[in-house]
Amino acid sequence: MYRSHNCGELRISDAGSVVTISGWVQKSRDLGGLTFVDVRDRYGVTQLVFNIDENPELTTRARKLGREFVVQATGKVRERSSKNPNRATGDIEIDVDQLIVLNESKVPPFTIEDDTDGGDDLRMKFRYLDIRRTPVQNNLIFRSKLALETRKYLDGQGFVEIETPFLIKSTPEGARDFVVPSRLNQGQFYALPQSPQTFKQILMVAGMDKYFQIVKCFRDEDLRADRQPEFTQIDCEMSFVHIEDILNTFEGLVRHLFRHTLNMELGDFPRMSYDEALRLYGSDKPDLRFGMQFVELNETVKGKGFSVFDDAELVVGICAKGIAESYSNKDLKDLTEWLQRPQIGAKGLVYVKYQEDGSVKSTIGKFYTDEELLALGQKFGAEKGDVIFILSGELEKTRKQLNELRLEMGRRLGLMKPGEYAPLWVLDFPLLEWDEDSGRFHAMHHPFTSPKKADISRMMDGDHETMKSLRADAYDMVINGAEIGGGSIRIHDRALQSRNFDLLGFTKEEAEAQFGFLLGAFEYGAPPHGGLAFGFDRLCAVMNGQSSIRDFIAFPKNNQGRDMMIDAPSPIHDEQLKELCLQIKIDKM
Ligand code: AMO
Repeated sequence: MYRSHNCGELRISDAGSVVTISGWVQKSRDLGGLTFVDVRDRYGVTQLVFNIDENPELTTRARKLGREFVVQATGKVRERSSKNPNRATGDIEIDVDQLIVLNESKVPPFTIEDDTDGGDDLRMKFRYLDIRRTPVQNNLIFRSKLALETRKYLDGQGFVEIETPFLIKSTPEGARDFVVPSRLNQGQFYALPQSPQTFKQILMVAGMDKYFQIVKCFRDEDLRADRQPEFTQIDCEMSFVHIEDILNTFEGLVRHLFRHTLNMELGDFPRMSYDEALRLYGSDKPDLRFGMQFVELNETVKGKGFSVFDDAELVVGICAKGIAESYSNKDLKDLTEWLQRPQIGAKGLVYVKYQEDGSVKSTIGKFYTDEELLALGQKFGAEKGDVIFILSGELEKTRKQLNELRLEMGRRLGLMKPGEYAPLWVLDFPLLEWDEDSGRFHAMHHPFTSPKKADISRMMDGDHETMKSLRADAYDMVINGAEIGGGSIRIHDRALQSRNFDLLGFTKEEAEAQFGFLLGAFEYGAPPHGGLAFGFDRLCAVMNGQSSIRDFIAFPKNNQGRDMMIDAPSPIHDEQLKELCLQIKIDKM
């Protein structure tokens, strides 16, 4: 028997019993005649104690234990003289009389403690050591619990979990495909799914009614903290539903997950149209943990001789509460420079300070009287001590820049409180997006998304400009400024789907070659249907107040898309290339 107990379960009530534990040496220390060794496993840390006077041979062996040695220890549990209230097993220790080294360990390349000194790539290279750390283990355990609770809820709602293939034909979700050459069909390639979108729709045509899958998706796109080339979705689809049914079902899922993992009740999710989100927050994924809504000022500030505002398409501002005294001129200059960095690209920042003594100080004092500036402040509900920040310029750019400033002020002022959650639905997205560079429309969500019922006839016969104003039955779920999930009511009519492919620049032949199976299925009684997919890794991270999804994935890729542990991607043998008929195409580096 390797163990009678794990390293996290012994308590004072076990004092006097003889136990055996196994685990990794976290650290050891010698204090006079006593040697203490902390042994760790997934469940916790237990202190072993050795006494040189009582057992010199054993204690000498204990002193030779290195970090991360795997040991098995047997002894009597006893109450500690100095207790550790921060540890569940902190009231006891094991007075060891038998010690077996199960395996030795080289000195690990970074410390395996809650806070480690290991850099990202080193931790990923030695991921098996990194995963020994409690915070990483907790993340993976949380993920497992979240998946389990997802299955419980969806099962309770009558959903069926169905696997769809990984070796498929391209599904357009807006990224590049990862492709896999076929040996048996030389010169041909599978694509790994960017999502199971078309398969889940086919399952609706097939009458499965409610489908879900916790599923890997693959997208060859630029990577960021919240994006991995392979990631996991909770992918769902339902038949005979309107938007309302979908929003209720999946708001219910997220409420269930918060209740059963974080023990937290979420209220009803507010809903906001895409247009409103952009107007009030400059973003289609606003962080609603704090206010600081945009106030548009075109009507108020134009025509007073300040050409920067007069010439701007949009003048818009936010109000930061209570910083008039603490924000010095230097702070404001730094903030302006921060906004002027190429990543944000603002031309300048206008501020109006409403000082505690009632006076007003502003970069635009030359153009506006104090009364006008006070009236401006009223639009924001500004009080003494507040500062309003104003940006101006082209509408879309200015909104984006002010969104960055709002989020930065939210961070600086501590308004994005950890442990606080502000979910919402963003609705009524545009159906199509015009891309000047390629001179083409792109699907804002994906090509299977239905226009709103009221827009269908305009979509069938409208002109180019009309297409820009079509709204989709599409929705995103946003929590704390992160897009957690998105979906739509789908087109289930062949003619409408063909029209959409047309608008997206597919020729009839291309549409047929790529999606003939779906168009064909629509001719055999496709029910009205819709669904959505949650980013499972993102949900894990956001629920834990983190922005990087990497620590919630057991074996993530780095920003270059590399797995540092197995060293992939890597070249393959000439033999393999030959078999796949690829050798001539590869330019070896
Ligand atoms: P969408 O492309 O919006 O929709 O993806 C759904 C959710 O998946 C997450 N996500 C990602 N997470 C990590 N890394 C990535 N590279 C990544 N890309 C997306 C996001 C996103 O909200 N088939 C549709 C869903 C549907 O219409 O039902 C789809 O895939 O959280």
